[in-house]
Amino acid sequence: MKHLVTVSTLETNEILEILDSAENYRTNKQGWKPEEKMFVANLFFEASTRTRCSFEMAEQQLGLTTIPFEVTTSSVQKGETLYDTIETLASIGVQSVVIRHPQDRYYEALQEKVSIPIINAGDGCGQHPTQCLLDLLTIRQEFGSFKGLKVAIVGDLRHSRVARSNAEMLTKLGATVYFAGPEEWKDEENRHGTYLDIDEAIETVDVVMLLRIQFERHEENTSELAQNYHSRFGLTVERERKMKSHSIILHPAPVNRGVEIADELVECERSRIFKQMQNGVYIRMAVLARALQPIERGLNNDNNY
Ligand code: CP
Repeated sequence: MKHLVTVSTLETNEILEILDSAENYRTNKQGWKPEEKMFVANLFFEASTRTRCSFEMAEQQLGLTTIPFEVTTSSVQKGETLYDTIETLASIGVQSVVIRHPQDRYYEALQEKVSIPIINAGDGCGQHPTQCLLDLLTIRQEFGSFKGLKVAIVGDLRHSRVARSNAEMLTKLGATVYFAGPEEWKDEENRHGTYLDIDEAIETVDVVMLLRIQFERHEENTSELAQNYHSRFGLTVERERKMKSHSIILHPAPVNRGVEIADELVECERSRIFKQMQNGVYIRMAVLARALQPIERGLNNDNNY
């Protein structure tokens, strides 16, 4: 079963296949689409704009039927377990679920038990596989490949699932990753990068990947740190002027304008922030195709709606 719960288990060739598939959807508007009706559901236990809407768009573009599911009006409110929710949906004909959940690795206990593929749309401070893949696609469109590229991931590293997925995959693909940000938010467990001073990082790299401050995951009061954040660790206009001429800016968004990045830089010439969002649709089409194609081929869904 083609779950996509973490990027860690993806081989290099699989990553490149997903990027190629997304690029085909983008450029040729070609790629797999189901011949018969197929059904998916999006289970979002945390807030989302980009991931949820771009999955919905990807599902529409592929001709899939999305079964509406809202956590707040579902029997999750009555204590239904995640396993029971997934299997309920599977039993009525849903063939894959997209899940965002606040619990790190919520999928671990599920992936061997459930009968339909899970696509992870973000787990706690764990991973965000489709964000990672869309970031890779955006970088590859710009530079052609990853070998020899220098990428700085800047900000709230400890609480960022994006940082974890991206550092691992970029390293696997041959890029060199640097980290920069507040000492308090260092991620000691992430061994896929070297810490640099923010100004050195900005001047050194080809890609400046900014992170949102994940206030919702902070256990301690961080408002004071956040107050001085822009001048100490943010991409100010002065720092942007010191970037290499060809370097680009990424941010998974939502953006705290004036905090991680100066307001006027969000849509500057170097910024690929809205490009990332566009690529999100194509990556999610590729990931849905990867999950659903084997089901269509094997026709291993008993329900024939
Ligand atoms: N980048 C991202 O995951 O955005 P959302 O939280 O809006 O989905």
